[in-house]
Amino acid sequence: MNRIAQCAIFFATLSISALLHTACSPSASAQRGQELFDLHCASCHEDPPADLKKRPPKLEGLFKAKYLPSGGPATDEQVRKTIVAGLRTMPAFDQRLSNQDLDDLIAYIHTLN
Ligand code: HEC
Repeated sequence: MNRIAQCAIFFATLSISALLHTACSPSASAQRGQELFDLHCASCHEDPPADLKKRPPKLEGLFKAKYLPSGGPATDEQVRKTIVAGLRTMPAFDQRLSNQDLDDLIAYIHTLN
């Protein structure tokens, strides 16, 4: 095999593994979302305080169902609204989270199965 062919094979393998890597690993956005979730949401949604009037729902598979636990549509827009405005005993996060934070959180919630 000549050098050029070897080089071509080397770079082809390299780009395929780069592609696989992007396809299989969670996006940077979802990774950031996980940090935000651990900071702002997990204290209720993973490990709820006993004095909450309503137990927060588990968020695994949230977007797989047609409806959210509240009965709203299971869409990014609706979940975004819930996070921004709060829902009954769930606090509003409009003063704490930026638009980018919301994008990242939603990307992360999509990875929960
Ligand atoms: C103080 C506790 C608390 C925190 C913190 C909290 N939640 Fe909630 N969350 C709740 C409760 C309680 C409900 C159920 C509200 C209801 O239906 O009355 C809820 C409901 C939800 C729902 C379902 C909404 C629906 O329409 O059914 C989503 C999605 C959600 N929370 C996401 C989040 C995210 C993302 C965060 C972090 C940014 C977060 N929550 C932080 C308590 C909390």
